[in-house]
Amino acid sequence: MGTIGSADALADVHAGDPYPVYERLRETEPVHLFRTGSYLLTRYTDCQRVLVERECFRAPGGHGPSGRTVHHPTPVLSRVMSSQNPPRHTRMRTAVARRFVEHVRRQQPWLSKLCDQLLEPLVETLRNGAADMTALAEAFPRDTIMHLLGLYPGDRDLVSMLVADIFPTSGPLPGQDRAGAAAMRMLIDYLQGEVVRRRRAPGDDLMSELVRAHTDCPEALPHDELISVLTGLIVAGYPQIAAGIETGVVLMMRHPDRAVFLDDPVGARLFVDEVLRYDAPVQFTPAPRIPTKAVVLSGVTIPAGAQVWPVLGAANRDPGVFSQPDEFRPGRDGSRHLSFGGGAHYCLGAELVYLEMSMLLRRLRHRLPDLAPAQPPCQRFGRLRGFTSVPVIRGER
Ligand code: HEM
Repeated sequence: MGTIGSADALADVHAGDPYPVYERLRETEPVHLFRTGSYLLTRYTDCQRVLVERECFRAPGGHGPSGRTVHHPTPVLSRVMSSQNPPRHTRMRTAVARRFVEHVRRQQPWLSKLCDQLLEPLVETLRNGAADMTALAEAFPRDTIMHLLGLYPGDRDLVSMLVADIFPTSGPLPGQDRAGAAAMRMLIDYLQGEVVRRRRAPGDDLMSELVRAHTDCPEALPHDELISVLTGLIVAGYPQIAAGIETGVVLMMRHPDRAVFLDDPVGARLFVDEVLRYDAPVQFTPAPRIPTKAVVLSGVTIPAGAQVWPVLGAANRDPGVFSQPDEFRPGRDGSRHLSFGGGAHYCLGAELVYLEMSMLLRRLRHRLPDLAPAQPPCQRFGRLRGFTSVPVIRGER
């Protein structure tokens, strides 16, 4: 392994445009030993292998066949599903996967109404001036997951605040954990209270169904796993879609000729896939993978027990898999992107992501076909992409 000029590739990634850094890494040092002792992978084939080969690459949960507990690099996230191995991971995923999909399907008409309700004030504001799209980008997925779980809408600000503190902690950069840990404790306390309420008075929401599943068969879904599932649905459940929507809106305005893909549902899915490939909303998996034995990736031997981070945003721009990867081209075979991970931990919310992103972007195009930037958008750097502001106006084009 050589160096790439900066021993701190990750600090570069967190401070500015990551794609030139990824390109250099992929070409010169595809297995990069980071100063914390973690390995960063930037080639598609290496990332995919690590995500898919579960026997060889474990999550850091410490519940694998060896029973060995691995120190979690981001303890705040040590309880969520993506950090777990079988049998704990299998129990958690089995308990929630089918129920989650059913609730999303059932709530589709509600989601459609919510989307229109949130669009209305934006359309109104844009009659007289500019608006920032980030508020809508956050509100739609946040209100959706809160509704699916049956959380009280008045708790929106609390949930937003806690998630904002928890999210930046989840990545290989150390030292950001304290605020995240406190917020995670508060979120868990809040959810414990909600679980107690549903035990007394169940509703027809997803959380009530999961609480019932736990009560009926605690071996299939123990209490701490129930809480972890719920926590994960919130933490994994909306900042990423918000980032995807923000990026989608910016790309729609930047490439009006390609926004025509949004005119029909099939094209919209291709558009969303290309948004997710072009600028992966989450650049790293929430948890690293740990090789169970020494492995060789791109000619480099990684010892057993090391932390390995597939850099999804880098894999998605690998020219060996995507031709002219730095171009935004909906309609290419972009569905092979790794933005949802892969293998056993493949994103549980992927279908909800396609649903929400294509619904909102399609309606924006229909209701506000002349949407244009009022000022340059402000990119967010780090593990979570998207934008911190997307000021828009009508009719400038
Ligand atoms: C654009 C939006 C989203 C992106 C880019 C995204 C990305 C990811 C990625 C990369 C993983 C894989 C983690 C790994 O392999 O370690 C993952 C897992 C997961 N995602 Fe998403 N996600 C998104 C939205 C959602 C939503 C809306 C939900 C649910 C409401 C969700 C729930 C989960 C859960 C529960 C897991 C863990 C699955 C497991 O470990 O079995 N995600 N997501």
